[in-house]
Amino acid sequence: MESLASIVLAAGKGTRMKSGLIKVLHPVVGTPMIFWPVEAAREAGSDTIVLVIGHQASAVQSVFRGATDIRCAMQEEQLGTGHAVACALKELAGFHGTLLVLCGDTPLLRSKTLKSMLAFHQGNRAAITVLTAVMDDPYGYGRVVRDDSGRVIRIVEQKDADDEEQEIREINSGIYCMDSEFIFNNIKGIGNDNAQGEYYLTDLLAIAVRKGLACLALPTADADEIMGVNDRVQLAAAGSILRRRINREHMLNGVTIIDPEATCIDRGVTIGADTTIHPGGLIGGGTVIGAGCLIEGGVSISGCRIGDDCHIKAGSVLEDSELGEDVTIGPMAHLRPGTTLGDKVKIGNFVETKKIVMGKGSKASHLTYLGDAEIGSDVNIGCGTITCNYDGVNKHRTVIGDDVFIGSDVQLVAPVSVGRNSLVAAGTTVTIDVPPDSLAISRVPQTNKEGWRLKKRQ
Ligand code: UD1
Ligand code: CA
Repeated sequence: MESLASIVLAAGKGTRMKSGLIKVLHPVVGTPMIFWPVEAAREAGSDTIVLVIGHQASAVQSVFRGATDIRCAMQEEQLGTGHAVACALKELAGFHGTLLVLCGDTPLLRSKTLKSMLAFHQGNRAAITVLTAVMDDPYGYGRVVRDDSGRVIRIVEQKDADDEEQEIREINSGIYCMDSEFIFNNIKGIGNDNAQGEYYLTDLLAIAVRKGLACLALPTADADEIMGVNDRVQLAAAGSILRRRINREHMLNGVTIIDPEATCIDRGVTIGADTTIHPGGLIGGGTVIGAGCLIEGGVSISGCRIGDDCHIKAGSVLEDSELGEDVTIGPMAHLRPGTTLGDKVKIGNFVETKKIVMGKGSKASHLTYLGDAEIGSDVNIGCGTITCNYDGVNKHRTVIGDDVFIGSDVQLVAPVSVGRNSLVAAGTTVTIDVPPDSLAISRVPQTNKEGWRLKKRQ
């Protein structure tokens, strides 16, 4: 197979986004926009990808930190797409094969489309092939000019097009395949004598035609795919198309999504069959959800591993936590990072957890804070219990053994431990370790002053 490298253009600021953040870093379904076309290039078989960066260069680089297939080429001044590619070619010196050129602002592009474009380009031994689309409203895009016999002769930009050319509805997607020899030999032939005074990459088509080389245009069936995101209206439109694709995939894999239009599942989420997801929530990337789970409405889950048959009730927030099987959470519970729950654990309404391990079958059913704690199995944590883990300077641990019963409204002043099979009476403030099999109780003895209210009134 011929070797394949890609160039992804991402140096521009994206002025129409009206943002402090450059366009290609705006998230689309939880992932920076530029990640999507880069991933499509990878899936199409590209071993090397050169990103052309300029504005906020280090932020763009950090998206791909650690990726061995990514190189960056700095374009200090954005003198046009042709100039951007010239900058990238310096990183590709000596490369022989096919070069794919993409824009960083096309998150909907699929590898399938790139693969068929590559096959078309290589099959026809073309010097350059451009992916095009026929649009009802082509305004703003470069137009593909063909001769009477339908052969491509050049691309003209919106700002340079005459009245007749503006009528053309076949547009340039900004996605190209090029023969390496052709591009290395002709990149310097691009000038900047045009309405914007920029070096237009699109001039390469006219150059190929002039030299009698094969210059082809391949219209794509799905115009959505090549949509370039320029403003926040298009950002939202791209997000909803990508979400629809992701949700469809899950549904075809056996997940019930009650209202796909109102369900946000990021890229890179795994969900088992027969899990049901109610609308209004957000499931963030990296999450794994088992089979047969029920995720109620308005639930936010990120970075979690959730076992089979779990029930996450409405309004709960789960972050970087791990749940065994048959675990029940919420409604309105908050699992903060570092929560590890065994099988059949129950975390009820208005319970907050952080950095805890809770063993099989343990329960904290209502209004509780559990932080920096190690809790055994079959433990009952009563309503209103608080682990007092923070003394204002340091965090301390609470350790609770198996089969412990903590009554309601108990404060555990850490560091402290409660031995296995002990009972802590309601209202107790635990400040000293409790040995196993004991009762801990700290209460001011109650006195009843009979008739006190009547005397007061006199
Ligand atoms: C470009 C094409 C146009 C096509 C459209 C498709 C040219 C001259 N025009 O126009 O025919 O219909 O894309 O969306 O190529 N960039 C750089 N450095 C630069 C200039 C641009 O890296 O000096 C990057 C931008 O960050 C962006 C991409 O190239 O990711 C496209 O640039 P943009 O200014 O959006 O081009 P368009 O005017 O949309
Ligand atoms: Ca654009």
